[in-house]
This record gives sequence, structure tokens and C-alpha cells, in this order.
Amino acid sequence: MIKKGIILAGGTGSRMSPLTKAVNKQLLPLYDKPLIYYPLSVLMLAGIKNILIIVNKGQLNQFKKILPIKNNLGIKISYKEQNHPGGLPEAFLIGEDFIGSDNIALILGDNFFYGQNLSSRLKKSVKLNKGAQVFLHPVNNPHLYGVATINDKNKIIKIVEKPKKSKSNLAVTGIYFFDNRVINYSKSLKPSKRKELEIVDLLNKYKKGGRLKAGFIGRGGAWLDTGNIEDFYNTSSFVSAIENRQGLKIACLEEIAFNNKWIKRKEILEAIKFYGNCNYSKYLKKFLV
Ligand code: DAU
Repeated sequence: MIKKGIILAGGTGSRMSPLTKAVNKQLLPLYDKPLIYYPLSVLMLAGIKNILIIVNKGQLNQFKKILPIKNNLGIKISYKEQNHPGGLPEAFLIGEDFIGSDNIALILGDNFFYGQNLSSRLKKSVKLNKGAQVFLHPVNNPHLYGVATINDKNKIIKIVEKPKKSKSNLAVTGIYFFDNRVINYSKSLKPSKRKELEIVDLLNKYKKGGRLKAGFIGRGGAWLDTGNIEDFYNTSSFVSAIENRQGLKIACLEEIAFNNKWIKRKEILEAIKFYGNCNYSKYLKKFLV
């Protein structure tokens, strides 16, 4: 069972400069809330309450200001800094003490997931005891991602980072589930040509041992990109379209905590105080009746 999660929310955000010159990308507004709310909501939907957020050196206060205070979500958030974006597996080196002897989920701070069966798929994934699991999703531009090739039994037979050419259109999405071996495997990785530790090298270690499983976010689910400004705004429009149609919010953290019975009326009131007079607070008032 996985009870701990890491959000990797550092990175240079260079593709979105100058917006990211002073502000971390994960704090930019994706429609009506900061981008980091979305991956955080995904971990909460998975039932994970103990969360480490890894941020760039010097940006800790930005995150602390924006995220709900202390117990308003009924979860435990801790922070660590990354000195330099040295690759995704660094999360397990920086997070070694946090992970301890447990299994761990990792989500990238800029990943957006949405869909009918998402929660139940996530709840299944956190049951992992041994090995690793990734979620795959078809995309039009696989060369921008880690790409997996599967066989007719849905088993991953090959996994490559940003291949120039690939017959597969299945991207490896930015949520991963690992057993505790991930710490030692990460320690044994060598930086790639682009001088980063690569997540696919880590996944390949699990694959070699026959311990890498594939999950699928079917075509009824959305895994959207926030990598460049165009994709960022398209994802923002997606959230706007759904929220305005339904009158329901995507990634309202307090709503998820309330539905999970992690918080009560009192914390919703505290949250409304924290956010002030805004639409997000108006939405939260629904849960007071
Ligand atoms: O989004 C899924 C893709 O994410 C996977 O398909 C790829 O296999 C994986 O390598 C990764 O590719 P990206 O090129 O999109 O990764 P990027 O460098 O943009 O980093 C993703 C997030 O992680 C971003 O929010 C910044 C953060 N990050 C990244 C690195 C390398 C860190 O916090 N620290 C880091 O050292």
C-alpha cells in the first residue's frame, strides 16, 4: 500500500520564460487556481495524505504562501528544496528520509489528469506492494515524452525517453508508483547526455527485473500538457469549459478533503478565511450547508 507521495515542482520552466523568471511554473494560474493544485488533488484522490513537495532552492516561501495552511486539508505537507534540476529520479534522493522504508508515488508538478474513472484507477495503483507502475496515454506527439511499447498482453517491452521516431504513440504520463527499491535504484543511476538522471533509466531497471506494470488512462480520460505556453492555455480552457458547464470545480482541494472525510465544516470556514472574498471561497460555501 502506498501512503506517501512526492510532487516534483522545481524545474527551470525555461519554455515558459519570461513568465517563469520570477515565479515557479507550478504557481502560475491554470484557469482559476495555481497549477500545483491539480497534481496535489490527484494524490489526494488516490487517498494519499502524507505529501512531500520538492521545490527549487529559494522558492519555498512562494509555495507556502499559496498552499492552504496547515490542517485545512487534513493532510501533512512537507517541503524540500532541489539545488538544481538534475532529473526526475532526484526526487527519491532528496526524499530519501521522507520515504524511509515505505513505497512511494511520484507526480510531476506540471501534469494535469482528468476523467471518469481516474479516482478508482488511482486507488487501485496505491495498492502496489512490489515493483513499479506507470500510466500510459496515447498522444499525437510522442517524441516529446517518455514512450512505451507494449505487447498484445499490455506488457511494456520497451521504454525510451523522447525518441525521434517511434511506432508507439503511448506516452508515459507523469505519475509513477514505486516500491522502496526506488531509492537504491536511483542511487545507481548515471546522468544522461543531457546531464540529468532519467526516469526512463529508472523504469528500465524495474522492467529488467520484470517488475514494471502498465496502467492506462483510457481515451475517455484526459492527460493534458502544460509544457509550453500554447498547451498551458489549452489546458486552462479545458478546465474553464468543464467547470463552467458543470458548476463543479476540478481540483478543489478542500472539496476532495471534505469528501474523503479528512476535514469538517470548521476547516472549510478556515479555508474561506484563507482565500478571502473570491469565487473559490463562494464555491466552498456550498459545503457549509
Ligand atoms: O510529463 C510526462 C513526461 O515528463 C514523461 O513522459 C517523461 O518521460 C519525463 O522525462 C518528463 O518529461 P519532461 O521533459 O516533460 O520533463 P520536465 O523536464 O519538463 O519536468 C517535468 C516536471 O518536473 C516540471 O514540472 C519540472 C519538474 N522538475 C523537472 C526536473 C528535470 C523538477 O522539479 N526537477 C527536475 O530536476
